[in-house]
Amino acid sequence: RVLRGRPRDLAGRKIVVSAGGTREAIDPVRFLGNRSTGLQGYALARTAAARGAEVTLVAANVALPDPAGATVVRVESAAQLREAVLAASAGADVVVMAAAVADFRPASRHDVKIKKTDGAPEPIHLTKNPDILAELGELRRAAREATDGLAPVDPAVIVGFAAETHDVLANGQAKLARKGCDLLVVNQVGEGRAFGTPDNAATVLVAGGEPVEVPLGPKEDVADAVWDLVALRLP
Ligand code: CTP
Ligand code: CA
Repeated sequence: RVLRGRPRDLAGRKIVVSAGGTREAIDPVRFLGNRSTGLQGYALARTAAARGAEVTLVAANVALPDPAGATVVRVESAAQLREAVLAASAGADVVVMAAAVADFRPASRHDVKIKKTDGAPEPIHLTKNPDILAELGELRRAAREATDGLAPVDPAVIVGFAAETHDVLANGQAKLARKGCDLLVVNQVGEGRAFGTPDNAATVLVAGGEPVEVPLGPKEDVADAVWDLVALRLP
């Protein structure tokens, strides 16, 4: 697809996009993961760069070529994704959390490969990962109260994604409020929808505004619709 003919309405803006899905190590050879391929996040990075933005793409386990014009930081786990996103978010104008972040990780990682034994397998105990999107919202709130902020995390626009299998809009509205973000891109998933496909349809929930429907089309169209809404909210 040609990326020409887009407005340069994000010129000079510093934008962070996370993409892909995190992997949480069980032992040196195994992990807990998810089905995200990174296609939507990469489309966001590519289109933002085409619209003139300075893009940092934090990619978790994505097997796609680097998008033209973006700086790519590769990570594996939720903890690494958090470090990279928070570092890149200092001084950023926009942060988009398109990555599928594991909610839980194994409470401890085995140093050596778990061996198949005769008895019943040991259960894998899980512990909660930090919520990076919610943390970005909290850091922004704190930055706006502080007076001494050095390289503060204070993006004008924070965008979250939500994949829901049921009660899509009700779950999305609750999530938007809970996470303190400005836009929440809600996808219905399951039954072959969204994961690994070039097309996507979405409802973008807007804090203090009406939802915007993006019809089924290339993931670049969803990306451009997000950037249109972001551009409206930039000072
Ligand atoms: N997210 C995050 N850190 C996490 C989990 C999620 O930053 N530990 C972000 C995702 O990148 C996404 C948004 O939060 O932008 C919503 O993710 P989602 O999994 O839909 O929300 P959860 O709050 O984890 O709720 P649940 O999985 O129970 O639906
Ligand atoms: Ca989750």
